[in-house]
Amino acid sequence: MFPKNFLWGGAVAANQCEGAYNEDGKGLSIQDVLPHGIKGPRTEAPTEDNMKLVGIDFYHHYKEDIKLFAEMGFKVFRTSIAWSRIFPKGDEETPNEAGLKFYDDLFDECRKYGIEPLVTLSHYETPLYLAEHYDGWVNRDLIGFYKRYVTTVFNRYKDKVKYWLTFNEINSILESPFMSGGINTPKEKLSQSDLYQAVHHELVASAWATKIGHEINPDFKIGCMILSMPVYPLTPDPSDVLAAMEQDHKNMMFADVHVRGCYPGYAKRYMRENGISISVTDEDMEILKNTVDFVSFSYYVSVCATADPEKNVRGEGNLLGGVPNPYLKASDWGWQIDPKGLRYILNTLWNRYQKPLFIVENGLGAFDQLIQGADGEMTVEDDYRIAYLRDHIRQMEEAVMDGVDLMGYTTWGCIDLVSASTAELRKRYGFIYVDRNDDGSGTMKRYKKKSFYWYKHVIETNGQEL
Ligand code: BG6
Repeated sequence: MFPKNFLWGGAVAANQCEGAYNEDGKGLSIQDVLPHGIKGPRTEAPTEDNMKLVGIDFYHHYKEDIKLFAEMGFKVFRTSIAWSRIFPKGDEETPNEAGLKFYDDLFDECRKYGIEPLVTLSHYETPLYLAEHYDGWVNRDLIGFYKRYVTTVFNRYKDKVKYWLTFNEINSILESPFMSGGINTPKEKLSQSDLYQAVHHELVASAWATKIGHEINPDFKIGCMILSMPVYPLTPDPSDVLAAMEQDHKNMMFADVHVRGCYPGYAKRYMRENGISISVTDEDMEILKNTVDFVSFSYYVSVCATADPEKNVRGEGNLLGGVPNPYLKASDWGWQIDPKGLRYILNTLWNRYQKPLFIVENGLGAFDQLIQGADGEMTVEDDYRIAYLRDHIRQMEEAVMDGVDLMGYTTWGCIDLVSASTAELRKRYGFIYVDRNDDGSGTMKRYKKKSFYWYKHVIETNGQEL
């Protein structure tokens, strides 16, 4: 039932797997000073307890890892370019050749196996210098720096990469201004006007990227990337229904601008009624008309919303959160699991936009135990991960049967990597186990989990045998 050319694969981000944080001229990124993810404060300089500095050393292991992805039959591999490998501080005039060379080799390696790279231009890894000297995306200058960066990489990889995403989970800036927007001003001191100014700058930069990319190679497919999260009313009380709608609007605004090329009325109203004033030029409004080719999104959790202040408690969850759903179970990290929500959000986005959709993140972060398998090889019996993915793929198929135009599916953390929200390695998502632990111990050896063989079969049968 999945289309013939369905893009099955997996996803990672540079900062969560590459390591080599200061090799070959790379500048520091904001991740290099975030040893505790979003849970803890940033540090002044990189500290040894920051697992991302070494990651899973993908920088030196990528050939071995891509070979394993190819063995699973990946059609697509999503990764990001670490901006600070290309422009170490972010505001230079000329790029760092060694950084460009690394991604040349990486994309060549993918192509060798017929794997299509899907590249995120900015995945929570703004150059630290831009955060400290410009306050990140609050500053309009970031648009110019980003334009220079994307022009450089579009030109360099125009024959190697076709699929691009402009900003990872662009809507998460509302919750995590430093991680998502490189905004150094502490969240509690950041005014809503500055926050929405940063939002506007990112939206304009994203539209510039679409325009520039299409000029460089008209065959490019350029998408936005949204943290998707169905918001259900906690009860049928119409006030709860409206509370859910309003919470949803805050996320949908980002996709609406990317697809429709202008701000929706409800967003203008929100800014007006909350005293949010931002500067917008005529040129900005023209540029926003460069709309995306497809809409991509991550999907992990759904939430509830209520108008009742007593019931309005925030549960654990992805960077954006909400009221827990009494009908759903949760992962070990408290993220509620809702496969049907995936069918729901796919239909919602398709009905709203009629644009091709791409699920570029979905998966289960879990504790894995490495054991000796029947064949003597070390492995992980991760039936819980298989069950999670199977349930979600079934709902994807339902959505395809509903008529949704779905381009592909890249599971998150196809190889174990460092978590974004908690900066831990023990929160594992992969089909491939990496022997590295949160205390820094481990051999870095890679082992195939049970899910490795399962996903290989899913791809082989184009999702027919789960
Ligand atoms: C998404 C991010 O929010 O969720 C990824 O785009 C992240 O970078 C993923 O890793 C899973 O979250 P976590 O916190 O479990 O790593």
